[in-house]
Amino acid sequence: MIERLKELRGEAVAAFDGAASPQELEEARVRYLGRKSELNQASRGLKDLPEDERRAVGRAVNEIKNELAAHLTAATDRLEAAAGGAASSVDLTLPGRRPWVGGKHPITRTLERLESIFAGLGFEVATGPHIEDDFHNFEALNIPPDHPARDMHDTFYIDGDRLLRTHTSPVQIRTMKSRKPPVRIIAPGRVYRNETPDASHGSEFYQLEGLYVDRGVRFGELMGVLTKFLGELYGEAIAVRFRPGFFPFTEPSTEVDIECRICHGRGCPVCKNTGWVELLGAGMVDPRVFEAVGYDPDVYTGYAFGLGVDRIHMMMCGVNDIRLYHENDLRFLRQV
Ligand code: DAH
Repeated sequence: MIERLKELRGEAVAAFDGAASPQELEEARVRYLGRKSELNQASRGLKDLPEDERRAVGRAVNEIKNELAAHLTAATDRLEAAAGGAASSVDLTLPGRRPWVGGKHPITRTLERLESIFAGLGFEVATGPHIEDDFHNFEALNIPPDHPARDMHDTFYIDGDRLLRTHTSPVQIRTMKSRKPPVRIIAPGRVYRNETPDASHGSEFYQLEGLYVDRGVRFGELMGVLTKFLGELYGEAIAVRFRPGFFPFTEPSTEVDIECRICHGRGCPVCKNTGWVELLGAGMVDPRVFEAVGYDPDVYTGYAFGLGVDRIHMMMCGVNDIRLYHENDLRFLRQV
């Protein structure tokens, strides 16, 4: 009996290992492990054997069944893998995983966009120091020590005279002191204020200053250039509004609004229900500023403007909190 079982085991192993197709394997399984197989009959006949033989045959039958089950599994895997594996666990048709690449910060991208638009309008880029002195940040811009405009420009002082610049306007002064007209520049960069941060104020943000000085520059040109600029940035259809305003270094002065891009003029928290959002300050350069830099106000006129770069991007993408730009949270940066 045991001899016959060993023979069977040898035949079955050869049949499983040698099966060349799933059908062949299935036939072998039925023949050697199926209900009517010799092995199964042997299990069923165990009860009729004498006690001592029953134990030896029973053990042999169980061992062989386990061994054959292992060969069957191995043969099944082998045939599936050879078939390219409908049931295999690797899906070769899935697209690959793309490696994560870094990108430019949205403020950097906005600055580059603004610079490119103004370059197309004939402006060149000028820069100045972030640590300024009282003369360039205030005095020369017609903001004397007791002027109420200083209230809005509280900043971080390094000593009695030196401070972190509160706006990019001092670059106007430095540029005019070092060149003769015509001057046509933009000055992008970081500025600082001693502010309690909230959704629309930060202690650091970005501005872009513009200045054009020549003989016979008029207010109409300022309106034309800014309307053109805003059209390039937000699309020709954007509504632009010029409102009278006040700045110590321009006369007359204007504040420039666009229709709120969050609510399209209907009114929302971002535009404080007015339907308009202020983007720029601008005006004709005050003669006092020309005097401070040694330009003759009887010969030259010019216009200047300043805008908040963060604000420009917020309006472009519908961002409602300026603090998001400085938190470096990738969930935000990847979206905008
Ligand atoms: N420097 C101003 C500020 O930070 C912005 C500004 C307004 C700049 C009007 C200008 C201008 O050049 O003409 O609030």
